[in-house]
Amino acid sequence: MSIRDEIRGVGREILTSEAYQSAMAREHHYNSNVADHSYSVAMTSLKVCKVLNKLHVRTDNRAMIRGALCHDLGLARFRHTYQSGKQCCFQHPVDSVDVAKEILPDINEVEVDIISHHMFPLTIHPPKTVEGYVITYADKYCSIKDFVCIVAGKLRRKKVYA
Ligand SMILES: [Fe+2]
Ligand SMILES: [Fe+2]
Repeated sequence: MSIRDEIRGVGREILTSEAYQSAMAREHHYNSNVADHSYSVAMTSLKVCKVLNKLHVRTDNRAMIRGALCHDLGLARFRHTYQSGKQCCFQHPVDSVDVAKEILPDINEVEVDIISHHMFPLTIHPPKTVEGYVITYADKYCSIKDFVCIVAGKLRRKKVYA
């Protein structure tokens, strides 16, 4: 089974939810949206988990997918209520847990840990699980990739590479 099929299967409830659909319309990192970013983070996280699994490190890949797909959904619903970047940084993981609990009544502790601590080390409290640490890496990797694409696109438009 491909990683995309695995995400589609495990994440069906999330991908078809109203919250995820509205996340498609919510711009994120200037050239993406919250839904596409979350999907990229799920893909990257799962790839990292597969490598860890080959190294005999056990991971809850179902929780990894569900947590990754939900980690920023609070941004889509509550972004207009944040007063500052700092408040957004600390509050959106909390709001994302609330949204995830609505979509996933059977949400587990690993999934809550993944969503709650994905902003570490920008926020103080570190994750408690391997999956929580995987998302802190995958989220930063995908965010940096988005910004590199923006900068590369702008440089190309200015013909810096010409
Ligand atoms: Fe986030
Ligand atoms: Fe994110």
